[in-house]
Amino acid sequence: MRKILVIGCGGYVGSHFLDSVLAYPEVDVIGIDPIDSKISGHLDRPNFRLIRSYLHNPEVEAELKDALSWCDVVINLAAICNPAEYNTQPLSVIRSNFIDGYPLVDMCSDAGKWLIHYSTSETYGRTIRSYLGDNGADDEDLYLLEEDKTPLIMGPIVNQRWSYASAKQLMERYILAHHFEKGLPFSVVRPLNFFGPRMDYIPGRDGEGVPRVLACFMTALMDRQPMLLVDGGMAQRTIVSIHDATRALLLMLHNRDNAIGQAFNIGNPNSEVTMGELAEHMRRLYAEITGDQSYLEHPIESISSEVFYGAGYEDCDRRMPSIAKAEQRLGWRPEINLEDTLRETMRYYHAHYVEGVSTGASSGVAAE
Ligand code: UGA
Repeated sequence: MRKILVIGCGGYVGSHFLDSVLAYPEVDVIGIDPIDSKISGHLDRPNFRLIRSYLHNPEVEAELKDALSWCDVVINLAAICNPAEYNTQPLSVIRSNFIDGYPLVDMCSDAGKWLIHYSTSETYGRTIRSYLGDNGADDEDLYLLEEDKTPLIMGPIVNQRWSYASAKQLMERYILAHHFEKGLPFSVVRPLNFFGPRMDYIPGRDGEGVPRVLACFMTALMDRQPMLLVDGGMAQRTIVSIHDATRALLLMLHNRDNAIGQAFNIGNPNSEVTMGELAEHMRRLYAEITGDQSYLEHPIESISSEVFYGAGYEDCDRRMPSIAKAEQRLGWRPEINLEDTLRETMRYYHAHYVEGVSTGASSGVAAE
């Protein structure tokens, strides 16, 4: 896979992919993104060309078609993927995650190009267990998310939180339908909380709004405001290093035949925390990073989801991935533990936002 077209290359995941893949001089990349602040260090590389645009801009249609006929593989990372927007701007969320993207699927299908599409673990929605109450509480099968087995369970349509998961789910179904009827070669990635440098933005510094939990907690620490636990912080997430996640993508590119026709969970089952535990880990690590022991007692408070996100929010209670398929087909396993992932990420935020070290600027756009 030497000629790669990356849609949304300027976002968080794209920027880390470029860091890795552009180190191979035999690989050429064309990227599409209107924003380049996270990839500014790559703009002069001979094996990279950036088309500064959104995917759906009609002015780049011809250029996109040329790039598509040139490439061996298309990676689509473009998305709005920030929960604070799912219930407040559901139209933009549905547009970004389905309407803007489906013409690309058509084009890949017509051209017979391999499409690697970044979906989400949110397509699973909530766990079966969360609807069963205490019945079956100890049955791990009711938690484990398996790509080709687990049903997708969302709350009612009035809870706009599910606008994102529904759009992503429909896109996966559209891709699979193209594969079924027209032979589209595809792979789907379902990310489970990739953490690392350059994720999201810090409100009031280089973006506005409510970012994902990592940046929310970092903002609270840096501004000496309480870390807020939505609905008590009982929700559980597995956290995987962005570097492990990037390696999974590289392995897909190296193992085309094993990757094609499959959806893969990319997450770290050994790094599961409640949001309450995450807040405690982070304040302890921030005391270590800053040398300021007062952070050990940094306030952690609870807040209702209605107040924090507004009406129509509903949470995914737990996301425990099976990664057996990625292990068997790609030879991938996460190698970086939670502590090291958090330490690296928090050092980056501290260096970038508090000490003003130039570390590759962030932007206010949340992208996969
Ligand atoms: C989001 C996206 O919707 C997923 O598509 C994506 O895969 C995932 O991020 C990711 O980073 O990979 P989610 O994990 O729900 O999913 O997003 P966060 O905003 O990071 O929230 C995680 C949990 O922290 C939620 O329970 C949320 O309510 C809670 N939270 C968030 C807090 O307790 N405090 C905060 O300040 C912010």
